[in-house]
Amino acid sequence: MTDFLPIRGFDHVELYVGNAKQAAHFYDRVFGFRPVGKLGLETGVRDRASYYMQQGNVRLIFTSALSPDSEINRFCALHGDAAKVIGLEVGDVEATMREVKARGATVIQPAQGFEDKNGVLKTGVVRYAGDCVIKFVERQHYRGTFAPGFEPIQAFGSEAVGLAAIDHIVTNVYLGEMNYWAGWFERILGFTQLTHFTDKEISTEYSALMSKVMENGSGKIKLPINEPAEGRKRSQIEEYLDYHCGPGVQHIAMSTKDICKTVRMLRQRDIDFLRVPDAYYDSLLKRVGNIEEDVDELRDLGILVDRDEDGYLLQIFTQPVQDRPTLFFEVIERHGSRGFGVGNFKALFVSIEEEQRRRGNL
Ligand code: FE2
Repeated sequence: MTDFLPIRGFDHVELYVGNAKQAAHFYDRVFGFRPVGKLGLETGVRDRASYYMQQGNVRLIFTSALSPDSEINRFCALHGDAAKVIGLEVGDVEATMREVKARGATVIQPAQGFEDKNGVLKTGVVRYAGDCVIKFVERQHYRGTFAPGFEPIQAFGSEAVGLAAIDHIVTNVYLGEMNYWAGWFERILGFTQLTHFTDKEISTEYSALMSKVMENGSGKIKLPINEPAEGRKRSQIEEYLDYHCGPGVQHIAMSTKDICKTVRMLRQRDIDFLRVPDAYYDSLLKRVGNIEEDVDELRDLGILVDRDEDGYLLQIFTQPVQDRPTLFFEVIERHGSRGFGVGNFKALFVSIEEEQRRRGNL
């Protein structure tokens, strides 16, 4: 079967935030993203300011409104600082939009070319869960900084922490909607279901969730979808949905080739990670077998390990990166494993629930 919608990879994620200038500073100083481009009043754009930040192949855009009557402000009033756009790079936006429209996608912006002296960037936008959209980007005929309207920033930025690429992006949806969106990815984008976790596998006394991992034809794009399951108390997914006021991006996982170095640098820059019970490391080697890393160092840094039939992975989760308990980041290093650390979910849930309890939300 041919892939009717070949996707080259994640292009970018755009976040709508209250103060893009300060957000850009945080992602530079703390996460080591380099400020590369800017769009705003100085570049002739009147209604918004955007910062284009880059590390490895990870591109993040932070956008704020410049006037009160703005869809960006309405988005932030409802959701807080949050991911608005998941950008996917394709070779042919016209063909992509033709395919997804014929298959029933809700088109927000038809295929359109944006031109400046550096060439043409083509995009097309479809509606995704909640207020999120998926933007298809064709950039092989554009040589400029990110997109027309952006101008390069002359800044060195802080030392990078080794983030290399977006590994996966997870969306939380309401109870009963996971199957709809899994089917949507199959029908509209030709994705297949990689794995399915039920509440039997992912539950604690209080919290439970169900998850389906959707993957595109090349395996480059992995988009898990979570929904809450019935638990004794409010699950972490419900807490997200309450504070985000609807479905949205729960976490963005970024890969690194040296997770110990990345996490050590992030900790030095005061990033808070989910605390892992110390007992987790006592039984670690029995659970995952031999690994290259030193267990004492992993314990010291709070890095989790999981193994499946293909290999193992190392991962860690930040605390939410804004006051609302919504969006957070994951750092992941894969050694063969194509999974998502399901063996860690239980240990992690205990930790997440402890944080929820501290927030009075359990
Ligand atoms: Fe993840």
